[in-house]
Amino acid sequence: PEEHNDVSTPAPVADPAVHPAWLPDAAFAPLGSRRIAVEIPARDWSTLSAQVAQTVRAEVAAAVATHGGAVVDASDAPDVALVVIAHNDQDPEAFTVAHGGGVTRVTAADPRGLLYGLFHLVRLGEAAFDGSAIGEDVERHAPATALRMLDHWDNIAVHPVMGQVERGYSGGSIFYRDGVVREDLTRVARYARLLAASGINHVAVNNVNVGPLETRLLGDLLPDVVRIADVFRPYGIQTHVSVSWAAPGRLGGLETSDPFDAGVQQWWADAADRVWAAIPDFGGFVIKADSEGQPGPFVYGRTHADGANMLAAAVAKHGGLIHWRAFVYNHEQNWRDRKTDRAKAAYQHFAPYDGTFAENVVVQIKHGPLDFQVREATSPAIAAMPNTRVAAEFQVTTEYLGHQKHAVYLGRMWSELLSFPYWGEGSATMADIATGRGPGGRAGGFAAVSNVGDDVFWTGHPFSQANLYAWGRLTWDPTADPIAILDEWIGLTFPGLSAAGRQVVHAILDESWETYEMYTAPLGVCFMVYPHSHYGPSPDGYEYTPWGTYHFADRDGIGVDRTVATGSGYTAQYPAPWASVYESLDTVPDELVLFFHHVPYTHVLRSGKTVIQHVYDTHFEGLERVEASIAAWEAAAAEFPADVAGRVTERFAEQLGSTTDWRDIVNTYFLRKSGLPDEQGRRIY
Ligand code: GCU
Repeated sequence: PEEHNDVSTPAPVADPAVHPAWLPDAAFAPLGSRRIAVEIPARDWSTLSAQVAQTVRAEVAAAVATHGGAVVDASDAPDVALVVIAHNDQDPEAFTVAHGGGVTRVTAADPRGLLYGLFHLVRLGEAAFDGSAIGEDVERHAPATALRMLDHWDNIAVHPVMGQVERGYSGGSIFYRDGVVREDLTRVARYARLLAASGINHVAVNNVNVGPLETRLLGDLLPDVVRIADVFRPYGIQTHVSVSWAAPGRLGGLETSDPFDAGVQQWWADAADRVWAAIPDFGGFVIKADSEGQPGPFVYGRTHADGANMLAAAVAKHGGLIHWRAFVYNHEQNWRDRKTDRAKAAYQHFAPYDGTFAENVVVQIKHGPLDFQVREATSPAIAAMPNTRVAAEFQVTTEYLGHQKHAVYLGRMWSELLSFPYWGEGSATMADIATGRGPGGRAGGFAAVSNVGDDVFWTGHPFSQANLYAWGRLTWDPTADPIAILDEWIGLTFPGLSAAGRQVVHAILDESWETYEMYTAPLGVCFMVYPHSHYGPSPDGYEYTPWGTYHFADRDGIGVDRTVATGSGYTAQYPAPWASVYESLDTVPDELVLFFHHVPYTHVLRSGKTVIQHVYDTHFEGLERVEASIAAWEAAAAEFPADVAGRVTERFAEQLGSTTDWRDIVNTYFLRKSGLPDEQGRRIY
């Protein structure tokens, strides 16, 4: 956490003409030009549902006002009917669609479902109304999980080292400015709308590294949280706050934070009462405890389960959740110590406590055992806790994937991870486990670090909006095709583009994750980035640090031996068949070979290439792919709005320089270590 954020770009914009992202007015034209009936019966709705009902009406009214349609009665021959009916659907977020007799009909049991149905029509455009995308048979849509979350790593004040948004690459926070919550939260309202249109329904509004100021969100700054929650609520989004384990001391003057101490328990119960009195539909607390210097229950000889259950008891009567993060490891490791393996940490700390966490605790586990690398194995801890609600955690902001300076679309990567079958082909996947379809049947949902800031394009690189959009869509349906999602985003966001223009954006982003992998750390070896910033190539940057992130390159070979036979024994944390698939060099997938094994540079991959030749080839090809993207972009840039074109062009210039550095530094590093030349005799320095 003392590592610093790149706070230099882009400059925060004082009064931004904010980019509409995937909700430009044009996206509402097909809907807004029609005759629309909205029927929501008066009922004893929750405040959340009642406000969402108003939002549905307001969205419809605005769309018809802009595009020439009309709001009509259900009896007055509408083209579109949005109807809440008490039917058997237990899921308040579900909706159905059908088209018949010239009418497109959306039904839901709750206004929240209706709002998602409305955005479904917007996404489909004209096809929602002409019978082509919606047929006569009633089609039900429901989210895979009720917990579809974004975590903001925003600090209220600008942190001297980390900046305002930790690991954020889009300027300042949309919530806070000059050490206080912004007066004007219209930007947050627009954000809430974008999130609802992509499927997100929970947001944590402050960094998991909680400073003294942010701790006060449970105290005198609670009115600020109330204001933010008021802005999210109309779009069906519940607000969460990251809390500090040290809060009883910092705010209450208590001398201990021992979870077994009655005074501590009372303090948290009172804090919860206060928060829920102010925000009755508050979501709960997120906590990073005993991790990277954050305080936690360890110091009192208590476990994570002890800590989580104490907080859970405090919030239970309010229906609140505790998101307890499993990102726990020794960040003060001695690099000389070859026995400790950071990858084993989450499993070691949490799996033994499976079944002991309270029902309203969600253990939030990063998708990989290390830290959001471009390629790492899936976390075995996710599959090791059938009797615990587990959330899979991802990162929309690209901490290790180019800082939203490089054009990198993450949909494919997430989709591959979400569909990883933990017990072999056809078995429960990561998404199944997180959505309660795994062995224990408990759902913890999904969480991801947001990539949004007060930048005019929200995300620095305009194309990084696609990641935010895809995150929402995949949390709703983790089996959705990430490339179809990409095309959907392109169509909505750039409505004026020709088919050729759309194809250019598609081609740039489609395999951009694989491209980024090609020119950065190879074959699952991880890191090789500059320490602190995590941007740009530094092959030995982390090699002799306390962070537990090593690749062990020497003149003969490289990689981390995580086998049971000769290494750290990490492979044993996986169920069959993966434990043995990863254990053996004969079966480990090429892309993870250096994650699991230390091999000679001459080791022949399953692809038939040696490791060293693979490194050279992918690094040359990675840069060529970026150059091809830039050429395609230059040919198409004139089709884009000038501000988008300007920003994308600027980002590509940066990406080209950075990718060239990656290619040359990684290749040179490997050549100097191994002494083995490139078979093709290309230039290496
Ligand atoms: C990474 C990241 C930190 C962050 C941490 C976390 O280590 O660099 O900035 O605090 O993850 O997920 O808690």
